[in-house]
Amino acid sequence: MAFNIDSYNNLDFDAKTQVFLKDLEEYLSKETDIIANLANTSAFISAFFENVNWSGFYLLKENQLVLGPFCGMPATTRIAIGKGVCGTAFEKNEILVVDNVCEFPGHIACDVRSKSEVVIPLVKDGKKYGVLDIDSGVYSRFSKEDVEILKKVLEILYKYTDLENLK
Ligand code: SME
Repeated sequence: MAFNIDSYNNLDFDAKTQVFLKDLEEYLSKETDIIANLANTSAFISAFFENVNWSGFYLLKENQLVLGPFCGMPATTRIAIGKGVCGTAFEKNEILVVDNVCEFPGHIACDVRSKSEVVIPLVKDGKKYGVLDIDSGVYSRFSKEDVEILKKVLEILYKYTDLENLK
């Protein structure tokens, strides 16, 4: 299986989204290892979304969020529950879309280029496992439509990956 980013060329956004979700499902459905699937999910998000400079996971371990698989620059390794955008989204169990990270009290800067951010809690069967975090160097990068696509990404991840194996 060789990934070809050029297969997304010349497609309109809806068609590109369908191909992206189908490709992701094909990769994740063939693997059960959680690290492998989280790593490929980060890579797919980075490949698909334009102007994304960081995409990855923070995973709940001993009541903290600990850096997991990601694509991007080196990042802070531990985030306390309730701190930063990630810790706040996790604590409130809410999707947070931050149009300007400088205006978010307590934002934790990792890549200095990041201007906007979206964080989606990882929740399966009512249990919280961590967060998906995506940064952009563009203000207000993440739309409602992007959030809906990312929710579909996580549904595919949950379908093929047993997050209980994180423990
Ligand atoms: N900005 C995040 C920290 C993680 S990095 O963006 C990769 C936050 O405020 O929680």
